[in-house]
Amino acid sequence: MNILILGGGGREHALAWAVKQNPKCDRLIVAPGNAGVAEIAECAAFDICDGGMVVTFAEENAVDFVIVGPEAPLAAGVADRLREAGILTFGPSEAAARLEASKSFSKEICDAAGAPTAAWARFSSAGPAKDYIRDQGAPIVVKADGLAAGKGVIVAMDEATALAAVDDMFAGEFGAAGAEVVIEEYMDGEEASFFVLCDGATVLPIGTAQDHKRAFDGDEGPNTGGMGAYSPAPVLTDAIAETALREIVEPTVRLMAARGMPYQGILYAGLMITDGKPRLVEYNARFGDPECQVLMMRLGAQALDLMQACAEGRLEGVRVNWADDHALTVVMAARGYPGDHAKGSVIGGLEGMPEDAAHMVFHAGTREADGKVVASGGRVLNVTARGDSLREARDRAYAMVQRIDWPDGFCRSDIGWRAL
Ligand code: AMP
Ligand code: GLY
Repeated sequence: MNILILGGGGREHALAWAVKQNPKCDRLIVAPGNAGVAEIAECAAFDICDGGMVVTFAEENAVDFVIVGPEAPLAAGVADRLREAGILTFGPSEAAARLEASKSFSKEICDAAGAPTAAWARFSSAGPAKDYIRDQGAPIVVKADGLAAGKGVIVAMDEATALAAVDDMFAGEFGAAGAEVVIEEYMDGEEASFFVLCDGATVLPIGTAQDHKRAFDGDEGPNTGGMGAYSPAPVLTDAIAETALREIVEPTVRLMAARGMPYQGILYAGLMITDGKPRLVEYNARFGDPECQVLMMRLGAQALDLMQACAEGRLEGVRVNWADDHALTVVMAARGYPGDHAKGSVIGGLEGMPEDAAHMVFHAGTREADGKVVASGGRVLNVTARGDSLREARDRAYAMVQRIDWPDGFCRSDIGWRAL
């Protein structure tokens, strides 16, 4: 099978690493990929949000299966174009990806499906939004409706912050994504991520994870795309996962199908767990990054079979081969991230690093220059390990971090603390 993966981050390196281990995989191409991906797959450069271009590339390269990593091509309808061209594709349609791409759409679906989530209201101008905030009081959450690269959410602990967020959003801070604003009840509790495959009708859970969003130890500092993750998430017990499936995920998936936009791909439900009850924080139409890295470490080669069964609409009866294991990933980021950071610094110590079923350094933002690996993004490496216990996975990951020689990088030293 010739496989094309769209995307170039740590998520896509992890997907490529898992897919590549499956004997079904013949040729593996990742677009655009990165320096780590280039060691295990061909990398190709073209606009992955241009459906026509993706179809042409897939046809010219006899691609049998396309896996879409990030949300932008999904929201741009790339999966639709591929399926119209008869190419087997893993990832939801543009219509179904609105579960992530539009927060108000997602909230409407939850309400119609009866899925527990925060109370909310939508506004298209500042005046009524501010009246609503004054009426509800703080803490309160202000969100740009559209995709804002993970930055369009302000959790306001006081009213003034919430009012300022409304002004910023309507002033265009997030561009078109902030033309509509959703204001939500603040939910207190512990967050965890629940990942299910969905073929339009059947739902198959494939793992749980927790990530660390703040930049610095002790969950301090600015919000980031995620500084580390581990799987499974102990807070998401089997009983809570069962409730989340029954009350949140399954009703959503049934309603999406009934409305003529069946959901096909990975559905990532961000949950808030309060007093043992899950409520939906948000849906994502893709794997989390870096959550995907720990999920792939645990699933290995079967990830390809599962994604293929999902794309072919035959998830019913499919089982996941679970191991009683744990995985943890430490994100190494460029100093200054998530703010301004330098690019182009050389990363040493990667040679001779263990690469096996329990150890892997996934590349998130790297490129090759003169035979060296250099940093090319904010989040740069995902140092990932597996173990019989979370502690073992953590110790293995940090032992690898010790070997990396990159003075311009930093990482958190406490990934997994909540579960340990
Ligand atoms: P989102 O982009 O929707 O995942 O939001 C980013 C983060 O904001 C989430 O991971 C939560 O930590 C927080 N958040 C979003 N909505 C709420 C809410 N209603 N109550 C509390 N925290 C929230
Ligand atoms: N790590 C959070 C996300 O991928 O949305």
